Amino acid sequence: MKSIDPTQTPAWHRLTDLADKYKGIQIKALFEKPERFERYSLQHEDLLVDYSKNRINGEIFSALMDLARECELHQAIEEMFGGAAINQTENRAVLHTALRNRSNHPVYVDGQDVMPEVNEVLAQMKEFATKIHSGKWLGYTGKPIKSLVNIGIGGSDLGPVMVTEALKPYQNPDLEIYFVSNVDGTHIAETLKKVDPETTLFFIASKTFTTQETMTNAHSARSWFLDQAKDESAVAKHFVALSTNAKAVAAFGIDVNNMFQFWDWVGGRYSLWSAIGLPIACVIGFDNFEKLLSGAYSMDEHFKHSVFERNIPVILAMIGLWNTNFLGAASEAILPYDQYLHRFAAYFQQGNMESNGKYVTRDGGKVSYSTGPIIWGEPGTNGQHAFYQLIHQGTHLIPCDFIAPAISHNPIGDHHQKLLSNFFAQTEALMKGKSLEEVKSEMGKAGKSEQEIEKIGPHRVFEGNRPTNSILVKQITPYTLGQLIAMYEHKIFVQGVIWNIFSFDQWGVELGKVLANGILPELQDDQAIQSHDSSTNGLINAYKTMRKG
Ligand code: F6P
Repeated sequence: MKSIDPTQTPAWHRLTDLADKYKGIQIKALFEKPERFERYSLQHEDLLVDYSKNRINGEIFSALMDLARECELHQAIEEMFGGAAINQTENRAVLHTALRNRSNHPVYVDGQDVMPEVNEVLAQMKEFATKIHSGKWLGYTGKPIKSLVNIGIGGSDLGPVMVTEALKPYQNPDLEIYFVSNVDGTHIAETLKKVDPETTLFFIASKTFTTQETMTNAHSARSWFLDQAKDESAVAKHFVALSTNAKAVAAFGIDVNNMFQFWDWVGGRYSLWSAIGLPIACVIGFDNFEKLLSGAYSMDEHFKHSVFERNIPVILAMIGLWNTNFLGAASEAILPYDQYLHRFAAYFQQGNMESNGKYVTRDGGKVSYSTGPIIWGEPGTNGQHAFYQLIHQGTHLIPCDFIAPAISHNPIGDHHQKLLSNFFAQTEALMKGKSLEEVKSEMGKAGKSEQEIEKIGPHRVFEGNRPTNSILVKQITPYTLGQLIAMYEHKIFVQGVIWNIFSFDQWGVELGKVLANGILPELQDDQAIQSHDSSTNGLINAYKTMRKG
């Protein structure tokens, strides 16, 4: 991928002028033009994306699309899908799309078609997942597996957690699934209290099979298991590995027959489509896992073939970029109005922030503009009673994505209509706000005194004009969830291309790891430490004193 400074493109200059020209743009005024919704919304199958409540007009929209063209987004898309080594700092292709390539057309990496290998692992996953799902895989005492424990962190945890939670209605009720990620012993200890070694299967999920947290938890799980099984040969029935590192898997003592392989061209935070998705397939069944892949594939095709002006991930990315680089937004909230999607924002926190939290340009310089926003969010309506105050009346501009299903998996009474009335109301309120005149008239009608109106009135004013996207899906199914995830993945990709950064490495997580490895041996004894700055020394030495009890 070429290095193109976006700020040097004619479109960026135009956007800078437009940001100035339309400083006072009011979203609600933009709705005076008829058919704004029709013009600024798109439907792909059962997914409707309404981006009309943004501070954009025709001029801004077309300049954003030009920016995408001038930054050669077309070529970048072709390169990614075509298996070019676009992760240049690690010299790797980026091919999570090959894992869900349902057309099965060849995809080449270094001249070799990866699809036969992808299909082989999928077949292996199918066989295994079907045995677990149907209760045919038996533990060392002959009982069927009941509890699945995934031990992994980051991309080897967040995707399977998010998807299994999102697709709970599709889960086999005879199986329960747990996730252990934190190296804090509490995480594994509390999990092991809930499971029985005779009926538990551990997935050791790690692309590298060297991650400290995962290997520590994996060893503890193995010791716990052997303490009770007292037979090394039983491990094969209770431990499987999901990894790219066959050597390390064998060294850990997991039978290579129980290893599900993936490849270095699958990024950790893009890996739920690979063998990392095996726990998902076990609990929702392989057919449903395939539907997840198919949904993502349908979004891949839409992304690959649609003109930018009708391309959902491109539009979401470019609007996000407008908010970040021209309107000064530093964060973005993802707000699912679906309890099952309660880990969706956390999942894309890694997806987005580990991908685009970079300040070094593709040619090794330093960006002169903001890159990846801070991603956060919680399900509605809980968020409404926690942090929406700041979104409505705070000093930060926080663009929000509201996501909701039209059909609930739990149609109890009028819960869903109440939930959705909030979903619709919030974006309207964020856009429209409430003027002082409205507040005064409201308070007057409620019989408040002039004095009180004067005093309280300003606090009840909402400036409005807060940008939002609304994403409505028919129902959260494996297929639509696949679409939604792929939509955000491609949004992140597009933004990384325009920001001229590398979205598929994560060097920024290394330094802390290296320093922790240096500190670990210093914690072995009670000797006072002098080797760091005075704060770090002071903290370590205080810890050594405190731990004596
Ligand atoms: O946090 C850094 C990171 O490398 C993530 O990108 C990755 O998802 C996670 O650690 C886990 O890595 P692994 O799957 O190799 O254990």
